Amino acid sequence: MARGLFSRAWMTKSYYFQARLSYVRLKYLFFTWLTVFVGSWVVYVQYSAYTELCRAQECSDSICDKYRRGVIDGSACSSLCDKGTLYFGRCLSTKPNNQVYMSSWGELDTVIKCQLGDVLHYELGEELEPRREATLFDKPTRGTSVEKFKEMVSNHLKAKVGEHANLPSLVTLILSFADSNKDGQISLAEAKSAWALLQLNEVLLAVVLQDREHTPKLLGYCGDLYVVERVPYTPLYGLSLPWPLEPWIPVGLRHSMDQWFTPSWPRKAKISIGLLELVEDIFHGTFGTFLMCDMRPNSFGYTNRHDLRLVDGRRVVPEEAFRLAMVSQHCEDDEDCVYGIDCRTSCDRTERRCTGKVTQPNLARACLALKDYLLRGAPAHLREELEKQMYACMGLKGSNEQMEMEHSLILNNLKTLLWKQISHTKDS
Ligand SMILES: Nc1ncnc2c1ncn2[C@@H]1O[C@H](COP(=O)(O)OP(=O)(O)OP(=O)(O)O)[C@@H](O)[C@H]1O
Ligand SMILES: [Mg+2]
Repeated sequence: MARGLFSRAWMTKSYYFQARLSYVRLKYLFFTWLTVFVGSWVVYVQYSAYTELCRAQECSDSICDKYRRGVIDGSACSSLCDKGTLYFGRCLSTKPNNQVYMSSWGELDTVIKCQLGDVLHYELGEELEPRREATLFDKPTRGTSVEKFKEMVSNHLKAKVGEHANLPSLVTLILSFADSNKDGQISLAEAKSAWALLQLNEVLLAVVLQDREHTPKLLGYCGDLYVVERVPYTPLYGLSLPWPLEPWIPVGLRHSMDQWFTPSWPRKAKISIGLLELVEDIFHGTFGTFLMCDMRPNSFGYTNRHDLRLVDGRRVVPEEAFRLAMVSQHCEDDEDCVYGIDCRTSCDRTERRCTGKVTQPNLARACLALKDYLLRGAPAHLREELEKQMYACMGLKGSNEQMEMEHSLILNNLKTLLWKQISHTKDS
């Protein structure tokens, strides 16, 4: 009897143990399957995002094909397509239409920027730029004389920068830029490349500011692909965190984290002076005023000598082009009147059209971008005055004469204040 009871208890126990074992096994199997499933999904998403974002081969094939057919020409064509001395490196793109790659051109560390047509099934990211069609290189047409091309360029620039006393010299600059092999003539293929490049804000700005030092040098081009100097340190400041972490970090902490790992204060002061100089160069500059409509820190970088460089000039637009774009924009309220990231105008509610005047000048937005960067670690005796000037700067509004006077006053004050602090250090 006792033996029967014992064996029954043993059987129940063993049955229970086996059931538990298969339950654990099932659980283990389920979690393994889940991990494999989620893992492969993440790999797939990453891979498909990468293949949409990074299409170096497509860039080079499409440009070289047109170069070989004689449609386009430029100073980088032979290195890219014949000699193989210009090649694509790590992909830096964050949007599929805007292809950016680290590259090497002989001894030089460079960056290639290439325009590709749309990826139709790409839905992430905000819609900031007009969706780009693949460039056709259909202008100017065969038979266009140099005089006619000059007129085309002149009219195009007039529409972009407005009637301007220095327009003829800008046209001359563009024509000499179009003559890529410097043989004194502009071939049809060179003209087609120059025309396509002229449609890009960043290229126009690089030509306009070629003698200044705050934009990376434009080293060469082929069609609408162009090569610029590589800027060793980007962005200006800020940490990039893995996206699943981002929503969990409070805004205040995020702002202070962005200021970690920045250079010493005198170096930050030198970099900031660079941004102030860039703002000065394009405010009523030789070819008019340009608006910087993306003042985020990732639009800027700096060199080993702590000289500021603008790494993304796609949203730097001539004031006239900005005005034309805004007045044709429909609006319900002021929030509808934003260009790029941070150029705002107001909404004329009776006409339901945006007005054409930017509400804040570049300088005010530059100071906003620099405020925490400059104030953190500033010498104690300077802090109060610096803070005062920064707030006065951020408060600049409108575009009347009074604002212009305050603009130049604040710009000078800030530059002098910073220079005084660093002129005796080796960083200057
Ligand atoms: N001349 C350059 N030297 C070094 N890095 C550069 C240069 N030009 C661009 N980059 C880098 O290439 C990357 C991609 O630039 P891009 O402007 O296309 O992306 P983004 O600023 O992240 O996005 P978006 O401007 O479209 O909102 C950025 O990390 C930028 O720092
Ligand atoms: Mg950018």
